[in-house]
Amino acid sequence: MRIVSGIQPTGNLHLGNYLGAIRNWVRMQDAIESDGGDCLFFLADLHALSMPHVPAELASNTREMVAALVACGIDPDRSTLFNQAQVPAHAELQWLLNGTARMGWLNRMTQFKDKSGKNREGASIALFTYPVLQAADVLLYQATHVPVGEDQKQHLELARDIAQKFNNDFCAEDAPVFTLPDPIIPPDAARIMSLRDGSAKMSKSDPSDMSRINLTDDADTIMQKVRKAKTDPEPLPGEAAGLAGRPEAANLVGIYAALAETGTAEVLAEFAGKGFGQFKPALGELLVAKLAPINARFVELRQDRGALDAILHKGAAKARALAAPTLDAAYAALGLVRG
Ligand code: TRP
Repeated sequence: MRIVSGIQPTGNLHLGNYLGAIRNWVRMQDAIESDGGDCLFFLADLHALSMPHVPAELASNTREMVAALVACGIDPDRSTLFNQAQVPAHAELQWLLNGTARMGWLNRMTQFKDKSGKNREGASIALFTYPVLQAADVLLYQATHVPVGEDQKQHLELARDIAQKFNNDFCAEDAPVFTLPDPIIPPDAARIMSLRDGSAKMSKSDPSDMSRINLTDDADTIMQKVRKAKTDPEPLPGEAAGLAGRPEAANLVGIYAALAETGTAEVLAEFAGKGFGQFKPALGELLVAKLAPINARFVELRQDRGALDAILHKGAAKARALAAPTLDAAYAALGLVRG
């Protein structure tokens, strides 16, 4: 079993990033060792070129994301943690796969349609071929499993189609170059919403800092944000159905359940009939207890550029070695002479 996954580097990391993708990666890293497998996790910095970007911000976001991943529990000695830009095999394999990927396949990608919007003619070529780079990311390492959000499932299916067509067109039946990866879509992927508006996702770009719990927030700030979080006047219901039409209440209960690693039903069983005057302090304390150790490591590590660059440097060396055999096999299968 080999798990490979990527994340786009962003700044202002918050609770939604942690409970969304990052914690899931940490769990996989901790579970896989007993199976004799391994994990590769990378910063998809090459993918960031598909949208307009500020170079200095990309560099600082990449380092910031590494600090967050390590603070949250990704161990660079146990997992291979790196950024694409230091492993040229990603870009190389993408080009090789561009010969196999079909225009029709990419034209069906919903992310391209969403992100290019009405301005298709002005979208970058990188936005269009983004899923081919993503296929290269995982095929390069013979990934068996790829944890992704629901929105990335279509890209994973494309990676399988590309792998299958390449194996078919260029490989002997008993010697395929690529493994077909399976997506792992976490069933309980916590959707963390804004503390000010239960219908909007918690987001780094919300102008109100009160809308999110940042990984840099200290205990007092967390308690204050929870105290001020938007709610309704009703007490908590006894069952999940009672949260219908109460997005703010549902969000706070969801955050509690995700942090306590339990379900909505269990949380409601404990707090049924109680008002937010009682629930909010409990939620605040739970947040502080879970986030304080992460916050301490994050705040320290994010300013240690030397340590972050060393982590990436070491991870990239491991990744380059793991990628080499597959990249060589792909060149050879295509008849490219590299004597
Ligand atoms: N496209 C993914 C996202 O936006 C990030 C990503 C890039 C990725 N390459 C990948 C995820 C390879 C899984 C595997 O979330």
